[in-house]
Amino acid sequence: MRVDGYPAAGYGVTPGETLLDGGRAVGIPLLFSCTRGDCGVCRARLLEGEVTMLEPNCLTPEERAAGIILTCVCYARTHVTIELPKPKGQR
Ligand code: FES
Repeated sequence: MRVDGYPAAGYGVTPGETLLDGGRAVGIPLLFSCTRGDCGVCRARLLEGEVTMLEPNCLTPEERAAGIILTCVCYARTHVTIELPKPKGQR
């Protein structure tokens, strides 16, 4: 998996491991709070690849159509690239 904005942030996830858990395991600063799809803090944009996302969750139909995913309830089905929100204060 590659994380846009973090050039050295490619990492692998093991079967059954969420994108959030895999990223945190290698030190990528992925934001999270509830870890169960309720709060939306872990939103990211899926740029490439396929994921399985647990339902139900807090995403709106518009967010889903825009490729937004929740890393805390997503499992990679293929090689994926995600884009993280810019940290507050950055443009
Ligand atoms: S951490 Fe709350 S939805 Fe992912």
